[in-house]
Amino acid sequence: MNAPLPFIDLAAQRERLGPAVEEAILRVVRHGAYIMGPEIVELEAELAAFCGAKHALTCASGTDALAMVLMAKDVKPGDAVLCPSFTFAATAEVVAWLGATPVFVDVREDSFNLDPQSLELGLASARAAGLRPVGVIPVDLFGQPADYDAVAPIAEREGLWMLCDAAQSFGATYRGRKLGSIGCATATSFFPAKPLGCYGDGGAVFTDDDALDAVLRSIRIHGQGADKYENLRVGINGRLDTIQAAVLLEKLKIFPSEIAARERVARRYNELLREVAIVPEVQEGSTSVWAQYTLRIPGADRDAFQAALKARGIPTAVYYPKPLHLQPAYARHPRAGNGLPVSERLAGEVVSLPMHPYLTEEAQDRIVAAVKEALAAQRVRIAS
Ligand SMILES: Cc1ncc(COP(=O)(O)O)c(C=O)c1O
Repeated sequence: MNAPLPFIDLAAQRERLGPAVEEAILRVVRHGAYIMGPEIVELEAELAAFCGAKHALTCASGTDALAMVLMAKDVKPGDAVLCPSFTFAATAEVVAWLGATPVFVDVREDSFNLDPQSLELGLASARAAGLRPVGVIPVDLFGQPADYDAVAPIAEREGLWMLCDAAQSFGATYRGRKLGSIGCATATSFFPAKPLGCYGDGGAVFTDDDALDAVLRSIRIHGQGADKYENLRVGINGRLDTIQAAVLLEKLKIFPSEIAARERVARRYNELLREVAIVPEVQEGSTSVWAQYTLRIPGADRDAFQAALKARGIPTAVYYPKPLHLQPAYARHPRAGNGLPVSERLAGEVVSLPMHPYLTEEAQDRIVAAVKEALAAQRVRIAS
């Protein structure tokens, strides 16, 4: 009854895929083109077709995907890049790598995503600090697209490029379009726990801009030019391994049905938990791929809540316990307005439940019962 449940069930996915992934890996082992082999070319074509972007460029991680775009945009010291504070560190980290300054912006509590009004305040903070705002990186937190229609006009008015951090949201849609062709580029991650994950690190950049794509392809391989030993610019070693491309090609075949299953699981959680917690809502006109299913439990003792679920074999996680503007590595950087109250509040309230396409109704019922029991024991009732 209390056998531990997985937070993400990659074993169930492997079982569904049968021997297909192992065979795909073995094909690479046998043909031997471990670096930039034929599976890379095939995967890039499939990914571009899947999301409707003109170009898809695979790379070694979601972090490299973000960094390569910043390098292509020649981000440098004195530049400010605006990003939400309530995100994974990589979003701001890549800005700091290049000696530029991340300027932290607050998020909206109804979507966990960048707040356009706070973006305006962030621009003022950047300028007050003597910085030159050059770009903005909205993040699609937990799988839901940011409010691009609100952010894009601000970016345009200010002459900023917009890079979409879709590390958690590849496969989601915004106003009927799959993510991948909004802004100057879109970066995603194929980290194993992501909705589309490989068996190691991996990532991709999507763009409709031919010139940007060409520069990214050069940066990915040490800034190479016409041949391997011509270096046009400073680049990185940012290639995806062929073996990971082979894994992704197999997983991509079942990805649409996995997205549908994630949606079913999330909807059912929402129905069953709405009366006891603040459940995540997807904004009108968007779909989410539910990289995380994240509740808010204001007023509850979150540590005790997590311990109660753990005692029943149910893992939970907190993404993210501390917003970036409060992290030692980033606290010195400017922030929008006088502070980022929503990010700080959410960091104290959020808790994510097991979420994956193979979560059975039976397991979900067990999780829901444990959530209700744990909150009732604390005498907190937080209706959505
Ligand atoms: C929002 C966000 N951006 C960037 C990244 C970085 O991706 P990766 O771990 O593949 O480098 C992640 C991954 O966790 C992420 O969640």
